[in-house]
Amino acid sequence: MSEHSEADRPIRVLFVCLGNICRSPVAEAVFRDVVRRRGLGHAFEIDSSGTGSWHVGHPPDSRMRATAERHGINMDGMRARQFTAGDHSDFDHIFAMDKDNLQDILALDPGAPQRDGSRYRVRLFREADPEPEDFQVPDPYYGGDAGFERVFEMVLRTSEVLVDRFEEEFGLVRKL
Ligand code: 4NP
Repeated sequence: MSEHSEADRPIRVLFVCLGNICRSPVAEAVFRDVVRRRGLGHAFEIDSSGTGSWHVGHPPDSRMRATAERHGINMDGMRARQFTAGDHSDFDHIFAMDKDNLQDILALDPGAPQRDGSRYRVRLFREADPEPEDFQVPDPYYGGDAGFERVFEMVLRTSEVLVDRFEEEFGLVRKL
C-alpha cells in the first residue's frame, strides 16, 4: 500500500507565492474545489502562504476574489500568512508559483528536496501545466483584470492535472 493510500493520513499540500493575496490563495481555493468536486476532500489538507510579510492577516485581493467568484469559487474567510521554515516539515508537497518564490522557499531549507526521499517535494506549480510556458504563474498584482483571469485559468487547468496525478499515484478512492 502506498504512503498516501486510503488508509493513510491526508496528503498535505501547500501553495506559495509572494504576498499570499493573489496567486497562492486562488490556487488553494481552486485545488480545494477540484478535490471536493471529485469526492476527494477527505484525502487532502490544503493551505497557502506567502514568502513576504506585507499582507499577513489580509484577505485575498478583491480583484482575485471577484475573478474566482465569477467562476463559482468563494474565497471568503481566507487570510494571508507568511511562509515559515516549519512549512517544510508540515507539508508533503509545496508548489511555488514562480522561480523567486521557489528560491526563497529553498533558502529557508536548502536540504528540503532531498529530505524524506520521494515523500517530500517542493517544485514549481506550473511544472504540471499542459501549457507551461516559462513554468511560472505571473504576478497579476500590478496589472489589469485580464491578468487575474489568466492566472485563474492556468491555476484551474494545472490543479486538474495535479489532482489526476495524485489520484493515480496514491490510488485515491472517491467518496461522492
Ligand atoms: P501574490 O501577488 O504574490 O500573487 O499574492 C502579490 C501581492 C502583493 C505584492 C506582491 C505580489 N506586494 O508587493 O504587495
